Amino acid sequence: MPSPDVSELRLSELLRTETHEAHERLEAVVGFDLTQPSVEIATRMLERFHGMVGALESQLRRNLPADLAARCHKAALLRNDLLDLGHDDASLNALPRCSAAADLVQGRGSAFGVMYVLEGSTLGGKVITKALKRQADWPITRASYFDPYQEETGPMWRDFTVRLNALSGRAEQTQAIAGANSCFELMYRWLGDGQRVAA
Ligand code: HEM
Repeated sequence: MPSPDVSELRLSELLRTETHEAHERLEAVVGFDLTQPSVEIATRMLERFHGMVGALESQLRRNLPADLAARCHKAALLRNDLLDLGHDDASLNALPRCSAAADLVQGRGSAFGVMYVLEGSTLGGKVITKALKRQADWPITRASYFDPYQEETGPMWRDFTVRLNALSGRAEQTQAIAGANSCFELMYRWLGDGQRVAA
């Protein structure tokens, strides 16, 4: 079969295919098994995200249109999740920060790519949340970092893909794909073994 003409694919589809491998690698390094959901692994994931999402969101707010920038407040959910999971202010402040997250976004194109990773993770996050809610020791029932949009997840994702697909310049599309892959790569290193990324 001839390979598809990538010029006919929309950016949302290109991002999915071009980051597929990076997503698989990240999933493997995180080690969360949907058939045997672990509150411990989920907590560790949230602790690591806590070290990077705030820095990513401040860059995204500066580089995205206002309506998308308004979605960049999930660090507050992360903080509440970790408090529900047994942290206090002192232990939260002591969690390591990923300094490399501070300059991941290079402009509007890469901001769309990084946003793709954060928004897309709400799809997987919903599946993870469903699995965690079956565990007696999972305390969170409200909107959480993994499931920020709850019943609005589908519509929020569809709206975001419309915005992605309106990004028509070839240069910005290329920057978006590179930005998404850099974000996955940083997450791979930071969630897999923070020692490999400057904290
Ligand atoms: C840890 C960081 C993770 C990030 C940043 C992330 C990111 C993403 C992104 C961007 C998508 C959207 C792909 C697309 O449709 O274009 C996605 C989908 C998905 N992810 Fe992840 N993911 C992560 C971890 C995981 C883990 C640990 C699992 C499961 C064990 C998982 C399961 C899924 C599933 C099932 C979907 C598809 C959901 C659907 O289509 O309804 N992800 N994720």
